[in-house]
Amino acid sequence: MFYSITSTITLILSAAAFVSAQTNTTATSSGPPAQVSPVWLSTVVPLSGNAKAYPSGTVPTGPLAALTFSTAGYPEGWKSPPATSAEVQAVVKALDWTLVPNSAVRKADSKGDLTFTGYNSETDPDCWWSASGCVKSKNPLVPADASACPKAGDWGLTYDDGPLTADAGEWAEPHLYDFLAQQNQKAGLFYIGSNVIAAPAAAQRALADGHTLCVHTWSHPAMTSLANDNVVAELYWTLKAIKEVTGVTSKCWRPPYGDVDDRVRAIAWQMGLTTVLWDLDTDDWNMPGDGGGNLSPETVDGYFEGWIAARQNGTDNKTGHMVLQHELNNATVSMAEKWLPKVKEAFNVVPWNQCFDISEPYWETNFVYPIGNGTIPAGNATTSSAIPSSMPSSTDSAPVSEKSDITSNSDVSPASSAVHNLPVSGYAPVFLGTIAILLM
Ligand SMILES: *[C@@H]1O[C@H](CO)[C@@H](O)[C@H](O)[C@H]1NC(C)=O
Ligand SMILES: *[C@@H]1O[C@H](CO)[C@@H](O)[C@H](O)[C@H]1NC(C)=O
Ligand SMILES: *[C@@H]1O[C@H](CO)[C@@H](O)[C@H](O)[C@H]1NC(C)=O
Ligand SMILES: *[C@@H]1O[C@H](CO)[C@@H](O)[C@H](O)[C@H]1NC(C)=O
Ligand SMILES: *[C@@H]1O[C@H](CO)[C@@H](O)[C@H](O)[C@H]1NC(C)=O
Ligand SMILES: *[C@@H]1O[C@H](CO)[C@@H](O)[C@H](O)[C@H]1NC(C)=O
Ligand SMILES: [Zn+2]
Repeated sequence: MFYSITSTITLILSAAAFVSAQTNTTATSSGPPAQVSPVWLSTVVPLSGNAKAYPSGTVPTGPLAALTFSTAGYPEGWKSPPATSAEVQAVVKALDWTLVPNSAVRKADSKGDLTFTGYNSETDPDCWWSASGCVKSKNPLVPADASACPKAGDWGLTYDDGPLTADAGEWAEPHLYDFLAQQNQKAGLFYIGSNVIAAPAAAQRALADGHTLCVHTWSHPAMTSLANDNVVAELYWTLKAIKEVTGVTSKCWRPPYGDVDDRVRAIAWQMGLTTVLWDLDTDDWNMPGDGGGNLSPETVDGYFEGWIAARQNGTDNKTGHMVLQHELNNATVSMAEKWLPKVKEAFNVVPWNQCFDISEPYWETNFVYPIGNGTIPAGNATTSSAIPSSMPSSTDSAPVSEKSDITSNSDVSPASSAVHNLPVSGYAPVFLGTIAILLM
């Protein structure tokens, strides 16, 4: 697995070298198009036996049932899927490419390390998070990313890179899912498509347990380094895997390494996905373990201790958070289980969608999740396609450079640090045009 985006960031500010090409994004006068359910997934037949609604009461735990799932037709796991396949090309044809900015395809090495040479991260024409920390798309067709829970005291719980497959031994799922059930805690899970088809019973369990399933690509690349068709392929196969295995069509995704710009956002948006980032990074992936690194667990402990202390001593009072954690290996899962009870003593811990009042994270309307304080809305909430702004409503200029008194401690942090967008407006949804047409 490729996890080092840490290193050599050569940030050369060159005002002249980059030309923004968002020429087509302001063309519409009638407002942005509605985001719609992906029709190109409508023929996928989900496995039977899946949960059909958000659970009420006790959720399933314990050993997973044996499940036969044919991976025939899927691309090779953890490899960049070919963009030439008929299925991917059908999606490519279905998208409106006049709505996708012509931003440059970035350069990344095999470990995902990006080159920023020639990109002006000050003017940041493409809202490229890796270069600037930008979370508010400059493309008027695409809403701001969900990057930090708006309300002080909220902790948006997320675990990336799952489901953790059997080769992790006793730490494989449902280890974390059982722990969460015991804690009566729901979480947002950002799934690798390859892992979903490798551990289908775990993905089904997560849905049945009330967690929120979102896309985290097929092979975990730096997405801005991919050509348009390859961006489509990464998202398509993951959407399909989640739908075929669990029956739901996610409306949310998180870019690996946070690497997203307005080109990638516009493609994801048209594929029915909104972008979810984070504002606090545990760096847990970098602890020793399968696919990990060499960061000492004590360092990660220190991050948690600092965040909890700042909340408890009253200095962390401006905004809630969205926290990057992983179900990557035994080290990250054991760290997650160690800290969750302590975090819950200091924060209101909720899955990320709950703190954004997103009750319907899938295109299927039979799943309605709790919002805000835990109330489940009557159903088919009209806010389902709207992402609340994580930006102060008082400004529409480039990202607010205001230093948070929380340190994000990230070596997956954007190249330009000190960009923390501090919401001031509470739950302020940004409605972009008409509410999505639900096709399924
Ligand atoms: C933008 O629109 C023009 C015509 O209005 C078209 O020629 C051009 O190809 C479009 N650009 C993109 C990136 O689609
Ligand atoms: C609150 O806790 C944070 C994190 O430990 C610390 O940096 C800060 O100095 C503390 N402030 C006060 C007023 O105690
Ligand atoms: C928030 O914390 C700051 C110190 O970091 C303090 O000055 C301010 O009074 C606090 N506000 C509230 C409402 O507690
Ligand atoms: C994770 O697995 C490795 C290799 O088996 C082992 O050395 C390490 O102690 C384990 N860590 C935890 C937290 O269980
Ligand atoms: C949650 O909020 C709703 C409306 O804001 C309120 O009616 C309800 O009593 C609250 N529930 C709890 C458990 O606080
Ligand atoms: C949402 O709407 C669909 C049909 O439009 C209906 O089948 C479903 O039961 C509704 N869900 C809720 C929770 O009301
Ligand atoms: Zn990841």
